[in-house]
Amino acid sequence: MDALLITGQQRLRGEVAVAGAKNAALPILASTLLGGEECVLGNLPRVRDVFTMYTLLRMIGASVKCEGHCAVIKTADVHSTEAPYDLVKTMRASVLVLGPLLARFGQAMVSLPGGCAIGPRPVNFHLDGLTKLGAHIRLEHGYILAEASKLHGARIDLALPTVTGTENLMMAACLADGTTVINNAAKEPEVVDLARSLVRRGAKIHGAGSERIVVQGVSRLQGMDYSVIPDRIEAGTLLMAGAITGGDVHVKHCHPGHLDAVLSKLGECGVEIHEGRTSIRVRAPRRLRAVNVQTFPYPGFPTDLQAQMMALMCVAEGTSVISETVFENRFLHVSELQRMGASILVEGARAVIQGLPALSGAPVMASDLRASAGLVVAGLAAQGETRVSRIYHLERGYERLEEKLQVLGASIKRVPAPV
Ligand code: EPU
Repeated sequence: MDALLITGQQRLRGEVAVAGAKNAALPILASTLLGGEECVLGNLPRVRDVFTMYTLLRMIGASVKCEGHCAVIKTADVHSTEAPYDLVKTMRASVLVLGPLLARFGQAMVSLPGGCAIGPRPVNFHLDGLTKLGAHIRLEHGYILAEASKLHGARIDLALPTVTGTENLMMAACLADGTTVINNAAKEPEVVDLARSLVRRGAKIHGAGSERIVVQGVSRLQGMDYSVIPDRIEAGTLLMAGAITGGDVHVKHCHPGHLDAVLSKLGECGVEIHEGRTSIRVRAPRRLRAVNVQTFPYPGFPTDLQAQMMALMCVAEGTSVISETVFENRFLHVSELQRMGASILVEGARAVIQGLPALSGAPVMASDLRASAGLVVAGLAAQGETRVSRIYHLERGYERLEEKLQVLGASIKRVPAPV
């Protein structure tokens, strides 16, 4: 269990490249189960959640050969349709194999994801949608047991635009008889990337990226050679790391259009922003201005950047209100930021932050992936030393974050956690 040791208040400057999107890679990897032909994937981030998905695919009989950021996956010899508890409990996104296994093999047995640090996170909308597609679903002994001799197209009205729910249903609908319409679908770029990869394999999907996705079922999907989109959350985290240190940071290999809401907030904070075709440069003043932020599903401000933005607000000039509308309990970083001297008052789903001239470095503990990123960003601006422990959370979704920050001039190093 390593920790990150950060000596703050170094101004970051320079260029850094973003890895592939974890949350696009995971559903695309799961979707390889929809057909037996070879899938060659590129720009896969080398992060723990992606490795966990490789393990799951191998456990059920797929061949996964990785080299660097590429993987060649063959699912012709899949011999099991079970995603076991021991694996699902380490990564909730394992539930993404449910739709593909059911659609191709007529059955799936997937452990119910349990509790989660950021809220209850049920999968009821995934299951309701699959039931509409004709699946018979039972919950037994902590498992989802789904069966269907053949799925058929249906109209599904999602109560909330769930991201992995939309992905599961879109994948399942690809092999269903007839047409499926998903209303109130998630519009995230990762949903669009999954749809694009499926269309590359012969799927018939229209409307991905809008709130109405139409899928006409086909009898089979071919193989593919596909490269996943850049990670907008990693890009946003690096931009915020630059901004909080009054830095000048050029983030490359990203899609600026995926970060409109974030760039607009950073602009309001006084950050100068230059957008290129595939890069963003931020130049920040010595002190940022406080702004109010509300998280929303895409294209709103992403909940996955809320903790990092809160770190910025802790040292901004003025008072800000951050409202979390996507998850019920995503303020676990607050008590750790308070250990660094931050002035934050939580009232239900709102946090009121009084910006201070500086935070003071302290030992802090990561509780989930994005909270960890928020603590790292805070540590970069704090006076003295911050030790962020339990960084295995960070490694679930960031590839070599500390090395990228070192390149930008941060004083950050990985150290073994004290026993
Ligand atoms: N919800 C339900 N029932 C469902 C599904 C969702 O009540 O069946 C609720 C959730 O409890 C939550 C809201 O709907 O309050 C939105 O959840 P959503 O289903 O959209 O989240 P998710 O699909 O489980 C994905 C990302 C998360 C990201 C959220 C929101 C992946 C693998 N995960 O989760 O990413 O925060 O969308 O954008 O794509 C992360 O990368 O750190 C991460 C947590």
